[in-house]
Amino acid sequence: MGKPFSMPNHTPQLLVRLGLMLEGLRLAPGMKVLDFGAGTCWISKAIWQMGCSVIATDVSEEALRLGQRLFEEYPIPNKPLASWDNRLFDGVRIPTEDEEIDRIICFDAFHHVPNQNQIIQEFFRVLRNGGTIVFNEPIGPHSTTEESQREMREFNVLENDLNMDELAAQFRNVGFEGPVFKVAACPEYVLSYAEWRECVSGAVPESMRDSISNFERNSGIFYFQKGRPMNDSRYASNGLSHELTCDQSHLSLKAGERKNVRVTVKNTGDSRWLCKNENFIGVMNIASRLLDYNSKEILKDNTRLPIPVELEPEEGFEADVPLHVDQPGKFWLKLDVVSERVCWLEDLGSEPLLIEAEVY
Ligand SMILES: C[S@@+](CC[C@H](N)C(=O)[O-])C[C@H]1O[C@@H](n2cnc3c(N)ncnc32)[C@H](O)[C@@H]1O
Repeated sequence: MGKPFSMPNHTPQLLVRLGLMLEGLRLAPGMKVLDFGAGTCWISKAIWQMGCSVIATDVSEEALRLGQRLFEEYPIPNKPLASWDNRLFDGVRIPTEDEEIDRIICFDAFHHVPNQNQIIQEFFRVLRNGGTIVFNEPIGPHSTTEESQREMREFNVLENDLNMDELAAQFRNVGFEGPVFKVAACPEYVLSYAEWRECVSGAVPESMRDSISNFERNSGIFYFQKGRPMNDSRYASNGLSHELTCDQSHLSLKAGERKNVRVTVKNTGDSRWLCKNENFIGVMNIASRLLDYNSKEILKDNTRLPIPVELEPEEGFEADVPLHVDQPGKFWLKLDVVSERVCWLEDLGSEPLLIEAEVY
């Protein structure tokens, strides 16, 4: 249960590999991640700690029981808003709904699966469009190694030899794109001073080629993609931007009265805008802030209007946005779009709308 820190001689390998996998997954808080072949759930817990909801699944009831204890008995500093769940896998149907999952991680488990083609179809079924599945697996001859033979004898574990050409064809037949591979040298590999000089001058020392080739041959980190990779509003990137227009720049209203203004909103970035999500993370709202007449902010969360449907890039809609101010005077209402619990789009460079409000 202490993985990845229980065996110091394994820790560097595990961390390097996990780091590369996480980099490629492009996780954001509020995403739903499936840890396939989760074992004792150390990766599930790390992903949960990063604010993602996680479903850990495995054929081993005993491993998941230990995983349950890892979540329940060993607290983390800040409890995330996200959820976690351990679900026993029957070896056939992944226990989640269709397109429920944003990312799948499979660390050293797929080469144990007997019905690989069937499970690849399951991966496709449960993954959302735009989702990614990442693997860390031994490639090529593996079952004949001494360690694999011992595991098969002592623990009755199935060890398969993965053939990358066959695997890639199987994934593509189902509809996935890829694979792409992470590049790394073996973690124990070091450069001599002379090699380092060679390296920084742009050359690739011979020994480095060997080490990279070893890494790629023995244990690949590779991804498949369902549909075009696309960020959504849970991810605070430059791809989140809007264009707001309104038919009014002035509003006259009574204190406490609600008045609608007609606003056109367009998603001008390259990220999908979510209209619902667990714990509200990344849900897009048209929001107004209240400023005094000298443009000093008085109230950050003045009003909110949810977007009615998920918006793809370039899509937009028109809405009647209800506005109100609770005290008399002259104010500015600043309209912006907010990705809840992620960011305001003004902070990423989008132009907010200002409406002068005269309140009597
Ligand atoms: C080497 S362990 C890796 C566990 C975990 N991912 C980790 O990094 O600690 C392999 C895991 O694959 C699981 N496994 C074996 N056959 C499986 C199958 N058909 N479907 C899903 N998981 C399986 C085992 O129960 C075991 O937990």
